[in-house]
Amino acid sequence: MKMLALENISRTFANGSAGFKNVSLEAEKGEVIGVLGTSGCGKSTLLRVLSGLDQEYTGHVKVNGNAIKSVHKDIGIIFQEPRLMPWLTALENIAFGLKGAAKKQKQAEEFTNLVGLAGFEGHYPKDLSGGMAQRVSIARSLITKPEILLLDEPFSALDAFTKMQLQDLLLSIWKQYQTTMVLVTHDIDEALYLCDRIIILRGQPGEVYKELTVQQPRPRSRGDAELARQKEEILSFLNLNKTSQEDHYEKSNTPAK
Ligand SMILES: Nc1ncnc2c1ncn2[C@@H]1O[C@H](COP(=O)(O)OP(=O)(O)OP(=O)(O)O)[C@@H](O)[C@H]1O
Ligand SMILES: [Mg+2]
Repeated sequence: MKMLALENISRTFANGSAGFKNVSLEAEKGEVIGVLGTSGCGKSTLLRVLSGLDQEYTGHVKVNGNAIKSVHKDIGIIFQEPRLMPWLTALENIAFGLKGAAKKQKQAEEFTNLVGLAGFEGHYPKDLSGGMAQRVSIARSLITKPEILLLDEPFSALDAFTKMQLQDLLLSIWKQYQTTMVLVTHDIDEALYLCDRIIILRGQPGEVYKELTVQQPRPRSRGDAELARQKEEILSFLNLNKTSQEDHYEKSNTPAK
């Protein structure tokens, strides 16, 4: 049985504004699926539907064969900004989703270490850097051991170095827990570095335009030639690479014979 199955789901808004339509997708346990697409094609809307936060969709979303009807304990979500509670310390933010005081402290410490924040347990969000705050939000969503982790541009607000460190952190966590992940990103290199499969959405409302598999074994090299080739391919799918722009320019400027 598939860990995650989307059957022909669509979401449009009451004001007629576009979301996405006819999206079907399946993910096995431990698969990392990337979702790429230009701004406004419905990526965040899609993740909200998967998370159970938005139930105004048509089609079916199933986790382990069961339809999801509300926010689901097996699904964790990480947003672009950390969304921490300013009145709680790093450790308390990480422990927030756990019930039962007894094990709470110990587990929160374990996850604080996992994301590399040992020594910063007592810091409040205002005293953390952007990268540290995002580490807290990663730990907070992992501590409940979700089977599926949804990530909406989790590293896009970070500098290039912190971003690479956190991508590697995510991979090490994935190796340890075999979490199934759906990663929305604008960053093609990030998608190629992290994902097994990449779904490209296009249009408004967004529809699946292409799906490609990244076969390079992990750990991958960021400078890998095959990944660079796939990047070119993705750029052309998104109509963003130089050659396709030149084609377009030539076509629109060549007088009809
Ligand atoms: N609550 C809402 N009510 C009405 N329209 C909405 C709502 N949420 C999103 N939309 C519309 O749905 C479309 C897709 O929005 P969404 O936020 O999913 O895009 P996105 O692909 O995540 O974009 P970005 O890459 O900029 O984050 C947009 O046209 C947006 O205006
Ligand atoms: Mg978005």
